[in-house]
Amino acid sequence: MHKTDKGAKLMEKVVSLCKRRGFIYQSSEIYGGLANSWDYGPLGVELKQNVKAAWWKAVVHGRDDMTGLDSGIIMHPDIWKASGHTENFYDILVDCKKCKGRFREDHLNGGKCPNCGASDFTKGRAFNLMFKTHFGAVEDDASVAYLRPETAQGIFVQFKNVLDATNLKLPFGIAQIGKAFRNEVTAGNFTFRMREFEQMEIEYFTRPEDAEPWHKRWIDDRLNWYYSLGMKRENLRLREHGRNELAHYAQGCSDIEYNFPFGWAELEGIANRTDFDLKQHSKFSGKDLQYQDKVTNEKFFPYVIEPSGGVDRAALAFLVDAYHEEEVEGRTRVVLRLSKPLAPIKVAVLPLLKSNHEIVTLSKKIKNDLQRYFTCMYNDTAAIGKLYRRQDEVGTFYCVTVDVQSLEDKQVTVRERDTMAQERVPLDNLKTYLIEKLST
Ligand code: GAP
Repeated sequence: MHKTDKGAKLMEKVVSLCKRRGFIYQSSEIYGGLANSWDYGPLGVELKQNVKAAWWKAVVHGRDDMTGLDSGIIMHPDIWKASGHTENFYDILVDCKKCKGRFREDHLNGGKCPNCGASDFTKGRAFNLMFKTHFGAVEDDASVAYLRPETAQGIFVQFKNVLDATNLKLPFGIAQIGKAFRNEVTAGNFTFRMREFEQMEIEYFTRPEDAEPWHKRWIDDRLNWYYSLGMKRENLRLREHGRNELAHYAQGCSDIEYNFPFGWAELEGIANRTDFDLKQHSKFSGKDLQYQDKVTNEKFFPYVIEPSGGVDRAALAFLVDAYHEEEVEGRTRVVLRLSKPLAPIKVAVLPLLKSNHEIVTLSKKIKNDLQRYFTCMYNDTAAIGKLYRRQDEVGTFYCVTVDVQSLEDKQVTVRERDTMAQERVPLDNLKTYLIEKLST
């Protein structure tokens, strides 16, 4: 559902671009598709990798107080009892008696059906969002396991091992990127709500009395991360959760929301999870997960600040935010103004004349040399104007054009995406030129 016609049109354009140019495809499309499930194509996978790399660089490699983890998707089923997910991770669903549509109770429009406007519903029923499976050879109650609905629990249950291996001292955090699964039953807006998606989560452990100041710092840090990757300030806002919408483990939570074409919606949540999870896992596992201060010998359960974002939601927000149309010489130019770290292709090498063997050979050689440093592509399937437009549309930062003169003066034309400014650059200097341009 879209806020405005303008929003609906923008979304339509982005979805169409994503399919046409290989960013995002409907899952299982040739079998009629699978609800709330999407696949990433050749450019989409690059964008997603870039989002994850930028996040890892900012929250792990760029800090002294953070480290990483990669835990499994299927874990001991008792973990979900301890975390409260078996008991509390429910959506309340209602059926519209008029159109028979099924909706989350909290997604009704002021008590009215979002599909037909009627207000006669069945009684709400709780529906657990976790995907169930079985491990081992027998499919009975004793072998039930779940696909993780959040990556966070993998961090909590490895807290002690990480602490022992790293000698980290409070405050410190553990970051993880990985798949999470939720049996979302209501229709999602493109990749906004998926059944299989990726999370980027941080569990940041602090002394209880330091939790609130750290909560505030993390909210600022995370907002600044989106800004630093070029997201427009007016499209981001913070929203503090009301008491009645807090997750069962949270004492407080602020969402970073993005102004999607279908309205403001959650991009990332930053919660104060208190000592809930470590205490619960200590209780259920019988292992002491307290932190011991090496100087004072004091033992206690740290509090946890959790910035938890979605890779897919971030990628979608970056795509929508970057989508730009402008009139150039009487025609509409579509430019995906992705920032340098996020652009799937940094440099495209384009021969001006594909019938000229020497130009083609030189172009391919340039592409082969440059691809050791950045993602590059070679394309000779159309006239140069069209090739430029195609690269603009997918956010390629620089186009390097090889022409007849290049064979003589050993120079190429470098065109910048946003300004379309062109510069002749000596071949000897091309690599250094591009490295400098792309690193600023
Ligand atoms: N560990 C806390 C947690 O999982 P959440 O708000 O349920 O909190 C965190 O999820 C982030 O994961 C969300 O802000 C969103 O970006 C992403 N996310 C959650 N459910 C999603 C879904 N069905 N499809 C895509 N992304 C989702």
